[in-house]
Amino acid sequence: MDEPLNLERIDAVVRMIRTRTELKPEVGIILGSGLGALADDIESDARIPYDDLPGWPVSTVQGHMGQLVIGELEGKPVVVMQGRAHFYEGYSMAQVGLPVRVMQRMGVSSVFITNAAGAVNPDFEPGDLMLITDHLNLLGMMGQNPLRGPNLDVFGPRFPDMSRVYDRDLLALARKVGREQGMALREGVYVCLAGPSYETPADLRFLRFSGVDAVGMSTVPEATVARHGGTRVLGVSGISNKANLDGETLTTHEEVLEAGSVLGPKIIALLRAVLRAL
Ligand code: HPA
Repeated sequence: MDEPLNLERIDAVVRMIRTRTELKPEVGIILGSGLGALADDIESDARIPYDDLPGWPVSTVQGHMGQLVIGELEGKPVVVMQGRAHFYEGYSMAQVGLPVRVMQRMGVSSVFITNAAGAVNPDFEPGDLMLITDHLNLLGMMGQNPLRGPNLDVFGPRFPDMSRVYDRDLLALARKVGREQGMALREGVYVCLAGPSYETPADLRFLRFSGVDAVGMSTVPEATVARHGGTRVLGVSGISNKANLDGETLTTHEEVLEAGSVLGPKIIALLRAVLRAL
């Protein structure tokens, strides 16, 4: 389970995908909890259930479909993950990073990574979108980094820079199209925790004190792998709930999924506009 990835495992998946479609995607899109609807809009060349992809981490969580959709969106060739697997499901960080490695070998130059997140910043409200400007790699600091193990030199260096994980040009583009569309976009720092339990009020006070704006259970491993391989990253959090800093409210998965019905259309509109402007 904890075996690091090697190129053969990654390329076995790429070969499998190539038997279904010749399309060469330029942009990868990872859709988080309750945000899968975008994939339905794609003029698809192939829809491949994750079960058909050797070694691919399959999502077991409600709200996450499990298929890879390859086709065109806004005239751009894309590969879209409709649902993702998480560390808390029992996958290793390396397995969580496999899909991004596959996208990189398929030739993708940018990835748009989405998630549902709890607002640690008290100014944020459910339904808000937050552009991720940076992340706090708390799990990485504790040894859970998808790049652990032999370095895959074909992708990038042993010690990759992480000062600019979230691409400044893509951020500028997202701000610009957000303004044009009249969308109020928040910006901030995302933290990925292991989950699956939500945070205690003490956890949340610690995160707030550490400069975190939004908390979730994904994105950071994928963004780390993307950055290592020189892939440009745009990260967008859909704020699904207010984090429970004072211990007065409960956080439930149902509330996170419900927020997806509001957040989904907003995230879709933003990602489509960014794709058009690319
Ligand atoms: N905490 C952690 N992960 C989450 C949350 C939260 O409040 N909301 C959505 N994903």
